[in-house]
Amino acid sequence: MEKNLLAQARKYEKTYGEQISPEERPVYHVSPTVGWLNDPNGFSFYNGKYHLFYQYNPYSTRWSSLHWGHLVSEDLIHWDRLPAVMAPDEEYDNAGVWSGSAVALPDGRHLLMYTGMHVSQLEDGSVDIQQTQCLAYGDGVDYEKYEGNPVIRPEILPEGSSKEDFRDPKLWWDEEEQCFYAVACSRTAHDGGAVVLFRSADAVQWEYVSTIDKSDNKHGTMWECPDFFSLDGTDVLIVSPMEMLAEGLEFHNGQNVAFLLGSYDKKQHTFHRKEIHALDHGLDFYAPQSLLAPDGRRILIAWMQSPENQHSQPHGIKWFGQMTVPRELSIKKGKLIQTPVRELKQFRKNPVAYQNIYIRERLRLPGVSGRSVDMTVAVRPAGGALYQKFTIKVAKDADCYTAVTYDPNNSVLRFDRSHSGFRYDIVATRKAHIRYQKGKIKLRLLIDRFSVEVFVNDGEQVLTATLYTPQSADGISFEATGSAIIDVKKYDLVV
Ligand code: FRU
Repeated sequence: MEKNLLAQARKYEKTYGEQISPEERPVYHVSPTVGWLNDPNGFSFYNGKYHLFYQYNPYSTRWSSLHWGHLVSEDLIHWDRLPAVMAPDEEYDNAGVWSGSAVALPDGRHLLMYTGMHVSQLEDGSVDIQQTQCLAYGDGVDYEKYEGNPVIRPEILPEGSSKEDFRDPKLWWDEEEQCFYAVACSRTAHDGGAVVLFRSADAVQWEYVSTIDKSDNKHGTMWECPDFFSLDGTDVLIVSPMEMLAEGLEFHNGQNVAFLLGSYDKKQHTFHRKEIHALDHGLDFYAPQSLLAPDGRRILIAWMQSPENQHSQPHGIKWFGQMTVPRELSIKKGKLIQTPVRELKQFRKNPVAYQNIYIRERLRLPGVSGRSVDMTVAVRPAGGALYQKFTIKVAKDADCYTAVTYDPNNSVLRFDRSHSGFRYDIVATRKAHIRYQKGKIKLRLLIDRFSVEVFVNDGEQVLTATLYTPQSADGISFEATGSAIIDVKKYDLVV
């Protein structure tokens, strides 16, 4: 195999990455050094810093020939770019260094576990595809693939499991049992995707333990990027199902993200699922990964892109693919709550606040505009009568806007990016059923140059979407059909 692929990628990203000015990038969302980004990988805390790797093709803004890109941060918002760490330069990963995770080892090394994607043509002309789990050890900058790779081969899986769909290991150290565990996704011809659990004393010799849960062909045809952890006394499994049928207003993205709440029996290694829901109700959210921060917070970050809309890229863009803002997860009253990491607050500047503003028809508020904004809007009915609709428009000028509309009679929130700079017939609207009733709703909008994340009712639900509206469109307006009262608090985010 080609041995200088990594050196080549590092040289290329340095030359061409530096040609991208900060103004061409999102203000506070992660983007690739140059070229293509998909899943977050190896999200971990190591040697006093947060490390975030990502599925990366430096050479083009299209998904191909996956490497691992690398970023580090002390505050989860401001990320420094480091050189790429892995290239597809071994026989077992010749078709891509695919997704995986990382842990800090007690001996001071940083361990990466990833999927080697191997493709070769056999003598009879057929194509052999095999996914295996592999390791790399490093010091936070340079990483060496383990010479004994792969460490988990599909032969270890229950009979009937596919060797072509076996990937995305999420690794952790179990302090109580003093061993490593990893979950990965797998598939048989009949189950529509499953999450399998492995155990190891040294991260090199692995045994298959159990199948944690599976789609049973009800929730998609394959489950990608599993994550499994305990949160405030509840066990949480997160998966990214492919080709999933919509359920009510949930799971409309084709490729979705589901969270499964339940209880895990640590002796039997079985998971009793109680509920399954969409983790994000917007248009662009996939393949999330979480870490446990030193202060005990469970923090999640996701690829802020619908895989199915990946071809609708703006002309001339030199990078493509973003991450969401990292989110703190918690369980409150049985519900999974997501809020932007608290570190974001230190970048809030220029506060503008309005209280008890009566709104009927359209309203603009002096000082409320911008494309790098953290804005919270609390809405309630004015007097007895319920308003019919309340809309916030952002990234707005004479031609463009992105709208978030609440219909209190049906408790539905609608996101609309039909006029948000896309020159393709992409999916532009999404609706979510909001659990609160009676016309009261609180929306926190994180607006960046190329995205909006809407946190509803203190993080009970989130809608995330990308947009490519010209940057000069920085207006924000409020509209009501009927009358409502609003409180607005708006900050610029300056990082
Ligand atoms: C999810 C995914 C993973 C895979 C990676 C390849 O987006 O398909 O299952 O490891 O992307 O880039």
